[in-house]
Amino acid sequence: MDDLKAKYLGQIADAGDENALEAIRVAAVGKKGEVALKMRELGKMTPEERQVAGPALNALKDEINSALSAKKAALADAALDERLRTEWLDVTLPTRARRQGSIHPVSQATEELTAIFAELGFSVAEGPRIETDWHNFDALNIPGHHPARAEMDTFYMHRAEGDSRPPHVLRTHTSPVQIRSMEKQGAPIRVICPGGVYRADYDQTHTPMFHQVEGLAIDKDISMANLKWVLEEFVKAFFEVDDVELRFRASHFPFTEPSAEVDIRCSWDNGQLKIGEGDDWMEILGSGMVHPKVIAAGGIDPEVYQGFAFGIGIDRLAMLKYGIPDLRAFFDSDLRWLRHYGFAALDMPTLHGGLSR
Ligand code: DAH
Repeated sequence: MDDLKAKYLGQIADAGDENALEAIRVAAVGKKGEVALKMRELGKMTPEERQVAGPALNALKDEINSALSAKKAALADAALDERLRTEWLDVTLPTRARRQGSIHPVSQATEELTAIFAELGFSVAEGPRIETDWHNFDALNIPGHHPARAEMDTFYMHRAEGDSRPPHVLRTHTSPVQIRSMEKQGAPIRVICPGGVYRADYDQTHTPMFHQVEGLAIDKDISMANLKWVLEEFVKAFFEVDDVELRFRASHFPFTEPSAEVDIRCSWDNGQLKIGEGDDWMEILGSGMVHPKVIAAGGIDPEVYQGFAFGIGIDRLAMLKYGIPDLRAFFDSDLRWLRHYGFAALDMPTLHGGLSR
C-alpha cells in the first residue's frame, strides 16, 4: 500500500495537464483501478487482516482522491494565470503625451464663454454664415448708403445675371443673429450667438474669417446697469480673476444707442499680459442699448421692450487668455501649433470644474 501511495502521489505531482490527471485517476481509483482491485482482495483475507487492510485502503483511496482534486485545482489556477498573463492589459499606462487630437483654442474659448453665459441665463442661438443683405445690414440700422458697409470689407455672393435683388453676403458680424433670434423667439429674450464671421482683411491681428459672440438681452426693464454687471461677471469668470475693472467709453454703432466700447484694466510685464491690474486699458468689446429701429426690425415693439447687446471677438479673447501672439496661426492647421495650444478633448469647461484646467 505504501508503494501504491508513493507511486500515485508521485504521478499526480508530476501530471502536466487535466488529461494526464484523468488517466491517473482511472488507473488508481477508477472502477477497475488498482485500488479497486486491492479492495476485491479483501474478500480473501482473514477477518483480522481485513480489519487492518480495509480502513487502510479506504484511507489510501481518500488520500489519492484529495491529491487529485488539489492537483486539479492547481492546474486550473495555473491555466488561468497563463491566460491572464497573455491577455494582460495595463490600464494604468498614462495616455500618450502626444494626443491624437485636441480642442482648438477657439472651440475651447467658445465652450468656456458658453458655460459662463449659460450660468447667467443666456441660451445659445445660431444663424447662417451666408446672410441676407437685410439681416446683416438694413435690419441693424445700416442702410445702403451707410459708411459702415464700406468699413466692413464685405464679401458679396454672386447673383445671377439679371437678378436685381441685393446679393447675399458672408456675414460680417454675428449681429444679424440678434434679428433672427428676435424674429423667432420674440421678447423677452436672452441669447448669445457665437460663430464665424468674414471680412476681406489680413494681417497679424486680422484674418478673412474669425469668430465673434453676440449677446442680446431684451425685456421691459433692462438698463445699461444690467449690461455692465453681465459683462463684469463674464470677464471675471472668463479670465479667472477675482476682480476686474471695466471702462465704458462712449462710442458709436448704428445698432445701439447709446453705444459703448468696453476696455479692461491690464498691464504688460515683459510682454506678459496681466488682466485686472495695472495702468493700461485694452479694448475687448462693443456694446450698447439696442436701437429701437433694430428692436422693431426684429418684430418686437420698442415702445414696450428695450435691452442691451454686445459683440466680442472670440479669437481675440483666446489670444489674450492663452497668450497666443498671432491670429493667423489659428487657421494655419499647423499640427505643432495645435499640439502646443490645444486642449484635452475630454475636459469640458464648466464653472464648477474650472474653465481651462
Ligand atoms: N457688430 C459689431 C462688430 O462686428 C460688434 C458689436 C458692437 C456688436 C456693439 C454689438 C454691439 O451687439 O452692441 O464690430
